[in-house]
Amino acid sequence: MEGALRGAANGGHQARPVILDVDTGIDDMIALLIAATAPELNLRGVTCVAGNVEIQHVARNTGKILHYAGRTDVPVSIGAARPLARRLRTAPETHGPTGTGYIELTGEDRALGTTDYTAIPASRYLGAHVERHPGEMTIVALGPLTNLGAAVSTGVDLAGGTREVVWMGGTLEERGNTTETGEWNACVDPEAAELCLARGAIHRLFPLDATQDVIFTLADFDGLPETQLARIVREAVRFYVDYHRRVDGIDGCFLHDPVTLIAALLRGEVVTETISERLACDTSPDPAVAGSLYRTDDQRRPAVTIATAIDGELMKAELLGRLARAVQPRPSVSQTVGGRRRQ
Ligand code: BDR
Ligand code: CA
Repeated sequence: MEGALRGAANGGHQARPVILDVDTGIDDMIALLIAATAPELNLRGVTCVAGNVEIQHVARNTGKILHYAGRTDVPVSIGAARPLARRLRTAPETHGPTGTGYIELTGEDRALGTTDYTAIPASRYLGAHVERHPGEMTIVALGPLTNLGAAVSTGVDLAGGTREVVWMGGTLEERGNTTETGEWNACVDPEAAELCLARGAIHRLFPLDATQDVIFTLADFDGLPETQLARIVREAVRFYVDYHRRVDGIDGCFLHDPVTLIAALLRGEVVTETISERLACDTSPDPAVAGSLYRTDDQRRPAVTIATAIDGELMKAELLGRLARAVQPRPSVSQTVGGRRRQ
């Protein structure tokens, strides 16, 4: 559906203009599918950042997923290839060698030529939208904050110039998934996280404390329609579940990114607990502590609204329902996705 028509499709309400910042990534992929097909959202663009995998994989996965979802009209901006101050670390053991688990979206795809890989780098792309539409844009960041940090450092007013900036990142009381007290998105680029928090560029936060309130099992995905896109999702999730079984000892996986997207923008009542805190991110050279969020009394930084609990059952039903609609058959998918493992 073209962006211009989306307002009418949302029961007459104007669809909310959104930019997604992603490091696609298995759970980013599911968030993208849901955002691309949600009538409530007007997906104005997707910005890519290195994190789960290197930037070339993030950009290609993102373009392909949007294409399979029938959204080649959504511009994709390629952003930071490495964190602001540190070496890039990636997570092939969590997301697979190219970011989509047991499936690889690496085959040549001529139809991708229709995706608008905009030449404007992500931080400027964000800046241009914020300046052109003051107070209107919502930015949902689902990866390390490098693109947002770069935008802030060049004077983009994410704090005051947007409707809202939402971030999936960090952990408060839950054990970290990267270090003892650190969550992946925060640990990959602690300097960017600290810069954004110090400048008030994060309004709402979804840490592990909220996103880990729901576990998705492989069986949960049995109800998806039998389409090529559903097969891609299942093969990716199967990898994610294998990882979580090994590392977390759970028979299922967390889907941090789509849980954040839905809780923040599509089904707010799933959030059952929020707190408001001034936060900072540790930027020490010691990788064992860098990336940990902590509460600060620094009155100069605005408080962040933090979701600390969600209704797992409600979330699961909402996410799976939306995903089932997102993977429905589209002619372009069967033309461009073959039956081979490598796609
Ligand atoms: C976050 O890190 C990445 O692995 C996921 O995509 C998610 O954004 C969870 O810690
Ligand atoms: Ca992510």
